[in-house]
Amino acid sequence: MMSEHVKLHDKSFQIYLEESVIQERVKELAQTINKDYKGKTPIILCILNGSFIFTADLVRHFDFPLTVEFVRYSSYEGTSSTGKITKMLGMKSDIAGQDVIIVEDIVDTGFTLFNALEELQKKSPNSIQITSLLVKPEALKYDVPCAYVGFEIPNDFVVGYGLDYDEHGRDLPAIYKLKE
Ligand code: IMP
Ligand code: MG
Repeated sequence: MMSEHVKLHDKSFQIYLEESVIQERVKELAQTINKDYKGKTPIILCILNGSFIFTADLVRHFDFPLTVEFVRYSSYEGTSSTGKITKMLGMKSDIAGQDVIIVEDIVDTGFTLFNALEELQKKSPNSIQITSLLVKPEALKYDVPCAYVGFEIPNDFVVGYGLDYDEHGRDLPAIYKLKE
């Protein structure tokens, strides 16, 4: 039985999405993506660090041949966005003419993905689609079209299943939200 509450660093969090609920939804998303990418060989682009668990779970449900790439951007400090983005790690493969599926943990303002998309489009891929486990529609400020969304959530700060609070909590199998 998972705990209902966790304390990370100086903050308390309460259960928000149970492990089984996440796993069920990830499987559903993968089934939808499997239909859309039948016969294709996409590049799965994992946006580090937050998406490492979602990507790992997702790719194991895919039934098409694929490759996995990793990029890392940074815009967050503590529980809010800094409004600046820095690329910490780039991609190795050439995506020209390729189908790319971006895997993101959460779209908050959309700033990270908006910038990532702009950069990736310049490399002339055949297609780019985004899958995000979580989207906070109330926080959205940039136009980022997410083709595959796990859950739309309120504008709360969440941790677990790859998401962190100052690098804590990524290992939690469930998702927790900050207590007021
Ligand atoms: P955006 O650029 O404002 O869309 O923020 C996206 C990034 O901020 C995500 O990839 C996360 O790493 C981080 N982030 C946004 N909201 C949360 C949250 O509630 N918990 C943990 N990280 C978050
Ligand atoms: Mg992230």
